Amino acid sequence: MISPKIKATDRMCDILTEDYQLLLMLGRFGLPLGFGEKTVQEVCQEGGVDTDTFLAVANFNTGGADAAQPFRDRLSVRTLIAYLENTHTYFLDFLLPQIRRKLLAAIDCGGESKVSFLILRFFDEYQAEVRRHMAYENDKTFPYVRALLEGRRQEGYSIEVYSRGHDAVERKLGELKNIIIKYYQGGGDANQLLSALFDIFNCEADLHQHEQMEDHLFIPAVELLEEKVAVGAGEAVPDTPQAKEETLSEREKDIVRCIVRGMTNKEVAEELFISVNTVLTHRKNIARKLSIHSVAGLTIYAIAGGLVNLDEVRL
Ligand SMILES: [Fe+2]
Ligand SMILES: [Fe+2]
Repeated sequence: MISPKIKATDRMCDILTEDYQLLLMLGRFGLPLGFGEKTVQEVCQEGGVDTDTFLAVANFNTGGADAAQPFRDRLSVRTLIAYLENTHTYFLDFLLPQIRRKLLAAIDCGGESKVSFLILRFFDEYQAEVRRHMAYENDKTFPYVRALLEGRRQEGYSIEVYSRGHDAVERKLGELKNIIIKYYQGGGDANQLLSALFDIFNCEADLHQHEQMEDHLFIPAVELLEEKVAVGAGEAVPDTPQAKEETLSEREKDIVRCIVRGMTNKEVAEELFISVNTVLTHRKNIARKLSIHSVAGLTIYAIAGGLVNLDEVRL
C-alpha cells in the first residue's frame, strides 16, 4: 500500500504552505482559516468534516489518483458530494464570472477587430456548457447517490450511465487560451488581459482536477454503494464514518466515557475492574477504529454520538 504524502497528524498550516493550491479546498469543505497549530484531523473534526475524505481529496490534489488510493474505501460519499457541489458553486458563481469581467475590461470590443467579440462569445458559450454539465450533476447524479445512501435505488439510472456521458469539460477552455495567445491583436489593457489568461490557465487545471476526481474517486465510491444497495433491499446504507463508529464495542464505549470525563488510565482500570494494560489495549483499538488519537477528538466524538452529555466532559 502506498503511504500517503499528507497525513491526519500533519499540521494543517504546514500542508497549506507547502502547496498553496490546497487553500481552495478549505472553502469547498467549509473549513475556516485561523487553525493555529492544529493537525489536519483536529481541524476536520472541529469543522465537522470527515478526515479520510479530506485526506483523499488533499492527496488526490497533490499526487493524483494513486496518492488517494489508501483512502478510497474509507471516504464518506456524503462529504465528497458536498465538496463537489461547493466546487461547482466556486466555478459557476465566482471563478468563471471573474474571468469574464477581466476579459471584458481587457479586450477592446469597440474597435475594428472582430476577434474581441468572438472571444467573448466563445467564452459565454463555454460558460453555458459548464453550467449544463454541473447542473446535470447537481440535479440528477447527486440526488441519485443521496437516495442510494438512504437505501433507495432509482430505476433507469446508474453511475455507469453518468460515467459514460462524463466528458472533459475543461478542454474548450484550453482552446480559448490558445486562441487569445495566438490571435488576439487588438488594444486594451495588457495587464488585465494577461491576468485573465493566468486565471484561464488556473481554471483549466482546476477543472481538469475536478473532473478527474469525479472519475477516479466519486465514481468508484458510488459503484461500491450500488453493490451494497443491491443486496441491502431498501435499507439505509451507512456512510463510511458511521459504519466505523458502529464498530466500537460496549466496553470500548465505557472506556471512551471515562477518558472524556478526564480519568487517568489507572482510574479507568479501577472504575471498570480491569488492568491498566487492558485499558491501554482498548485505547489503541479505539484510536484505530475511529482514527481519533486525541482526548479532544474523542470528546467531540462522544458528545456528537450521545455517549456523554456536555456537562459530564472535562473541557
Ligand atoms: Fe462536477
Ligand atoms: Fe463533471
